[in-house]
Amino acid sequence: MIITIDGPAGAGKSTVARQLAQRLGFTYLETGAMYRAVALAVHRAGISPSDEAALAALLPRLRLRWQDGRIFLADQDVTDLIRHPQITELARQVADSPAVRQYLGELQRQIGQHTHLVTEGRDQGTKIFPHADCKFFLTASPEVRARRRWEELQRQGFSFTYEEVLRQQLERDQRDAQRSLAPMHPAPDAILVDTSQLTVEQVVDLLEAHVRRRLPVQGIALIP
Ligand code: DC
Repeated sequence: MIITIDGPAGAGKSTVARQLAQRLGFTYLETGAMYRAVALAVHRAGISPSDEAALAALLPRLRLRWQDGRIFLADQDVTDLIRHPQITELARQVADSPAVRQYLGELQRQIGQHTHLVTEGRDQGTKIFPHADCKFFLTASPEVRARRRWEELQRQGFSFTYEEVLRQQLERDQRDAQRSLAPMHPAPDAILVDTSQLTVEQVVDLLEAHVRRRLPVQGIALIP
């Protein structure tokens, strides 16, 4: 069974997807971490994110691995390194590359072949798993999303102002929605959830209820 959770940055996808997967006993996949790990590798290799040929040559050598909620490059756990704002910016550029999108899309589908999955990103319900059993699109107001991101940056020790974070986020939203390759939009059959006024627990409860309603149809036994 495949459950997809898409939506913009700051909508709360990662936390919700991780907790939902835990409740159901499914594997959790954070596809943004894959784009970020490629960005880190691109940074280390000194390649331009717009050099398609260099990216295509780099990808098969990465040994990118997602395991138990952590992301690895070769055998190095880079889960924490990829949260740096510089990598966030580079990941956005790397995500525009057709070679990268194709490579990571295949990797994501391979993971989905072997396990029940809760996967989150921007294109999981639209491009990667169009036949997913249950699709969600999480949103929240730009102000709420920027505040969540700002609080996360504060915790990490970065001294951006809230206004800066909000401005950057609005720019990023616009680019995500307008890019020609895999623009972000809800799948027609996705359930839209606005998380602005909800706690994480309330969102997970809501999604879990939707999924469990589908289960008799799927005939899948879940953790009670
Ligand atoms: O969710 P995030 O901020 O960790 O994602 C990092 C970047 O990767 C962001 O610019 C959006 C992009 N991304 C994407 O294009 N498709 C996905 N499925 C996941 C992330």
